[in-house]
Amino acid sequence: MLEYLENDKEILEILKLELNRQESNLELIASENFVSKAVLQAAGSVLTNKYAEGYPGKRYYGGCEFVDMAENVAKQRLKQIFGAEYVNVQPHSGSQANMGVYMALLKPGDKILGLSLDHGGHLTHGSPVNFSGQIYNAVGYPLNEKTQQLDYNIIEDLAVKEKPKLIIAGASAYSREWDYAKFREIADKVGALLMTDMSHPSGLIAKGLLNNPLPYCDVVTTTTHKTLRGPRGGVIMIGEGRDRENPLGVKTFKGDRLKTMSELFDSMVMPGIQGGPLMHIIMAKAVAFREVLEDSFTDYANQVMKNAKVLAAELMNRGYDIISNGTDNHLMLVDLTQKNISGKKAERILGLAGITVNKNMIPFDTKSPFVTSGMRIGTAAVTTRGMKEAEMKSIASFIDKAIINCDDESVLTSINAEVKELNSKFPLYRQ
Ligand SMILES: Cc1ncc(COP(=O)(O)O)c(C=O)c1O
Repeated sequence: MLEYLENDKEILEILKLELNRQESNLELIASENFVSKAVLQAAGSVLTNKYAEGYPGKRYYGGCEFVDMAENVAKQRLKQIFGAEYVNVQPHSGSQANMGVYMALLKPGDKILGLSLDHGGHLTHGSPVNFSGQIYNAVGYPLNEKTQQLDYNIIEDLAVKEKPKLIIAGASAYSREWDYAKFREIADKVGALLMTDMSHPSGLIAKGLLNNPLPYCDVVTTTTHKTLRGPRGGVIMIGEGRDRENPLGVKTFKGDRLKTMSELFDSMVMPGIQGGPLMHIIMAKAVAFREVLEDSFTDYANQVMKNAKVLAAELMNRGYDIISNGTDNHLMLVDLTQKNISGKKAERILGLAGITVNKNMIPFDTKSPFVTSGMRIGTAAVTTRGMKEAEMKSIASFIDKAIINCDDESVLTSINAEVKELNSKFPLYRQ
């Protein structure tokens, strides 16, 4: 496909550099993955030309008969994956899916309760630098300091004390399973709505390897580009039999009855917060959802989890503290305190060794978010390349060698060569 960029050498060069970076580095950023060529083709297709404000069958523009078909296929496949009664596949991103939910259900100033950002939560779960912390009255629940895991007594006590309108489960940097039934119990006790943002583990939940929040929540959101391995984007879902009138907040009527939550979500996503949907991306979501429905995706998701367990164990064998002592999903949070290196420096020197990670706060971190005491590592992308347990052992040894020799550029350069050699056996888009 690159031949069409021959006339724009400046951009062609940048694209080649990025392609080469993805091919030759070890991608361990937990929120990233590599989509299939089919997903790339749909994302780069002529559907980018089409304006389609509205929903299938109810558009503001003509000529939508075929993009309607694409959106309907995406919706039907997504419903099938998670057992959803209602889905909206139009949010341009995970943040916009969450914004659509909050603005549909809540009034400005309403209280929300989500996992604190510095304990693994996401910006859109109530951080003061994000719209969610600015428009809403956000309270964060912490992890248990000893176990470094969710503590349902702490969450329940906070919910009883704060009486939030909405409780949010889900995280960006939490490696353990979630008990959605327990969250439901807490939400019911205080009369709150319950939302799960399963952006990180959704590809693993899709194949039944982790608990599915849909049967317990009023609404579930996810990005489509992490373990779900689709194009960048977001979706909103309601589980089977769970759609109902919004019990609180915004009183919006349809005729003489209150609108259901699904009706509120649809009208908040468009025209509430977005204009024309990205039809090429919606078609790419449909392609990715079909891949998720295939049996081979079960093998993939299983391998992602096996790889994460092996990588965590190998790092622990080398004296690294892993938050909560392990992982149930695709990611782990490494506490670097014992290794006398900050997350910021680890990210930089591992980059020199050809290994891409991100610095990350650890629970009760004493360092700033720009420095941090930890790093987050995920196995979704390297597993897509075909790497298995043996490669995880090599990766742990590369990381350890780089951190031990963090001030010796010649060692970092030699690790970089070993990383390239390993990656050459697992080609991505060049095969
Ligand atoms: C839990 C969670 N929710 C939402 C998002 C936001 O997604 P996006 O970057 O597509 O806005 C992320 C992204 O990392 C996330 O981890």
